[in-house]
Amino acid sequence: MPVQPSILVVDDEASMRELLDIVLGNSGYDVTVAANVGEAIERLIDGHFDAVITDLRMGTDHQAGMKILDWLHENSPPTPAIMITAYASVETAIRATRLGAVDYIMKPFKNDEMRIVVERVLDKRRLMRENVALRKDQAARGKIDNIIGKSAAMQNVLDMIRRVATLPSTIAIHGESGTGKELVARAIHQVSDRAEKPFIAVNCGGIPENLLESELFGHKKGAFTGAVEDKEGLFVVADGGTLFLDEIGEMSMALQVKMLRVLDNNRVMPVGDVAEVSVDVRIISATNRNLEQMANEGDFRSDLYYRLNVIPITVPPLRDRSDDIPLLIYHFVKAHAKNMGRTPLEVAPEAMEALTNYVWPGNVRELQNALERTVALCPGERLELIDLPPNISNFVAAPRASLSELPDGGVDLEALVAEIEKDLIKQALQQARYSQKRAAQLLGLTPRSLRYRLQKYELDAE
Ligand SMILES: Nc1ncnc2c1ncn2[C@@H]1O[C@H](COP(=O)(O)OP(=O)(O)OP(=O)(O)O)[C@@H](O)[C@H]1O
Ligand SMILES: [Mg+2]
Repeated sequence: MPVQPSILVVDDEASMRELLDIVLGNSGYDVTVAANVGEAIERLIDGHFDAVITDLRMGTDHQAGMKILDWLHENSPPTPAIMITAYASVETAIRATRLGAVDYIMKPFKNDEMRIVVERVLDKRRLMRENVALRKDQAARGKIDNIIGKSAAMQNVLDMIRRVATLPSTIAIHGESGTGKELVARAIHQVSDRAEKPFIAVNCGGIPENLLESELFGHKKGAFTGAVEDKEGLFVVADGGTLFLDEIGEMSMALQVKMLRVLDNNRVMPVGDVAEVSVDVRIISATNRNLEQMANEGDFRSDLYYRLNVIPITVPPLRDRSDDIPLLIYHFVKAHAKNMGRTPLEVAPEAMEALTNYVWPGNVRELQNALERTVALCPGERLELIDLPPNISNFVAAPRASLSELPDGGVDLEALVAEIEKDLIKQALQQARYSQKRAAQLLGLTPRSLRYRLQKYELDAE
């Protein structure tokens, strides 16, 4: 047999307590009664109730029912209440108060009326609980549905997200530009038990140093010119939640010292203030720079680096997970078409191949942008090779497929390899807009070994 819903009835009139005890008891509820506020609170502390029915006025106390509502409001779990009121004017007064979520019933009431209100309140409560349970369930299973990726590399990242989400440790996300670092940070927040609290992202590279300090820690009115009123820092805004410090490598040395202090004692000092404020914030940082190297070379405080990098997560570049490219293409083509109010587009196999072969120096962001443009300009129902930006469609033209076929007459291996090398280096330079560093990345070479080849093939003059 299912457990009977339990109801606490609070009324100073014995006849009313008896009536409700009988009416609700007959409807299958487990009823407890209390004759005043003190007794009611004792019962509430002792046991669990699915709903509370309380009279507003008890004896000379005209606000007795409100005291019970206040208690319920301040103590979890949230318990729905039904207020019995005798006067329309009082009802209106209460309706106007902050406790708008409470149900009312007017004296005198019919037994059926009471039953209906109780049922409605319990239904509402059931729904609320189911929602909470659903959210918890999703979190428990680590449902992360907006990060696309079935490659082993990406599955590792997803696995990591689920495992670290519930830990309090700081997390540092590493990865090239556009790989999805912010997406990962948000996913960690969403599957953590902080999900209901704020996720605040701060771009440390996008805000001037002195402003960044007051953004993060807040300031007192008059702390500096322009500080016309007190301002809460983002640490305080994010209290209970997650603070995402993007491009942390750009943070000034002076601010790094202050960050270190906050990480040590979970307290922030607003600019111009003398008192610290306690905060409970999970820090996730991200950077596309090599922080470890920066720390070794003295460009980033190494003590802060270690504090931030307790759990490192590296989001791999798209070229190392080409398995994910087709999925991402379908995802973005569908999403862009929908945004633009177009019917879903098909993708021609040649277009798919070109998109998969391309190396994507700007990673997922570049893929997303390229597809947005392509979908916008695509004249037909199918996305063709010719619709792609030339740098992508030409990329497939590189002599790849034929490479491994030995012609009947044999080859001059060294000359052929040199040709291919030269060709690919030229393409990489072009694509990288002649940044040698970027081109080296595209080719999986160190800048030094690219320079060596440029000299060898006399490409450095070009
Ligand atoms: N695996 C993925 N699935 C779906 N969308 C993705 C994925 N990875 C990235 N994106 C999308 O690509 C864009 C870039 O991602 P994001 O901003 O998280 O990258 P980032 O690493 O923070 O980039 P940057 O270093 O430039 O700040 C976003 O619009 C994001 O939603
Ligand atoms: Mg980012």
